Amino acid sequence: PQTPVKVTVTGAAGQIGYALLFRIASGQLLGQGVPVRLSLLEIPQAVKAAEGTAMELDDCAFPLLAGIDISDDPNVAFEGANVGLLVGARPRTKGMERGDLLEANGGIFGPQGKAINDHAADDVRVLVVGNPANTNALIAQAHAPDVPAARFTAMTRLDHNRALSQLAGKLQVPVADIKKMTIWGNHSATQYPDLYHAEVGGKVAAEQVDDAWLRDTFIPTVAKRGAAIIEARGASSAASAANAAIDHVHDWINGTPQGDWTSAAVPSDGSYGVPEGLISSFPVVSKGGAWEIVQGLDIDPFSRERIDASVAELADEREAVSRLGLL
Ligand code: NAI
Repeated sequence: PQTPVKVTVTGAAGQIGYALLFRIASGQLLGQGVPVRLSLLEIPQAVKAAEGTAMELDDCAFPLLAGIDISDDPNVAFEGANVGLLVGARPRTKGMERGDLLEANGGIFGPQGKAINDHAADDVRVLVVGNPANTNALIAQAHAPDVPAARFTAMTRLDHNRALSQLAGKLQVPVADIKKMTIWGNHSATQYPDLYHAEVGGKVAAEQVDDAWLRDTFIPTVAKRGAAIIEARGASSAASAANAAIDHVHDWINGTPQGDWTSAAVPSDGSYGVPEGLISSFPVVSKGGAWEIVQGLDIDPFSRERIDASVAELADEREAVSRLGLL
């Protein structure tokens, strides 16, 4: 029988964890037929809740679920991990400055990066979901010098999926008719969802909508969708975030479909003027289990300005965590 793939999920007792674990255990992360061993990392106060979730996972009797481990020690939880889903993070609380937020998260993602470096499997792939995701990924990566830098990524797939859904609704087409959507930059309100390269029925999406809708409705709706969900639901996106995490890792391992691409925040190689090393969202394809940034796209002046603004924010965040000694 096949050796199970070990998937470590941090923040396992949180809302996203609850929406994510059952889908992983059912086989949706890795592809059907691949057995999985789950490792749940939580803070001590939440270990009991994680145990409750593990009881429910048992009660699903998933044929592909080979076992569940629970720990409050990253060194234990990442032992032999093939996939790390870094979901648990310190949320911004009232009165917290940006520097405090970055520092609190540095205290989480630094040690987790080191634990991955020291204990994970050689093929480990890491997706950071916990915010500020791009910069948390940078911190984890900086603490894992023995792991190839490209194995550290951050999630913009939820933004990508939101953009697909908004455009499909506007044009009254199925989401499957839309190809080559791109989210550029930071997973934050400055992100740039790009319709100048997206295609609907083989034609450029931006030419099928009016400029006012693109600029004043589409971009802000996608960028502020997280806040709209909080307003409506009284809690932040959870099932859709978990779904996006599944999409990201599934495509990373199994490849993106021919003739299409997706969005992921990956370490920049300097493409499109994004400073090298920043973990920024790009149009990407996955081949042979590795992300590649789609090359050669023409960037119009409007897009250039938007991309530069979001990338400048990422550079600022890198500067701030560097000054705090977190890299
Ligand atoms: P939540 O508050 O329900 O759960 C977070 C869990 O992480 C808690 O159970 C907490 O105990 C745990 N945790 C905290 N510190 C930890 C540590 N050091 N090690 C292990 N576990 C730890 O939050 P929720 O809704 O599940 O969201 C998680 C994160 O995902 C948040 O940072 C949120 O902002 C982010 N997010 C990112 C999205 C994206 O598109 N990139 C979309 C939606 C949420």
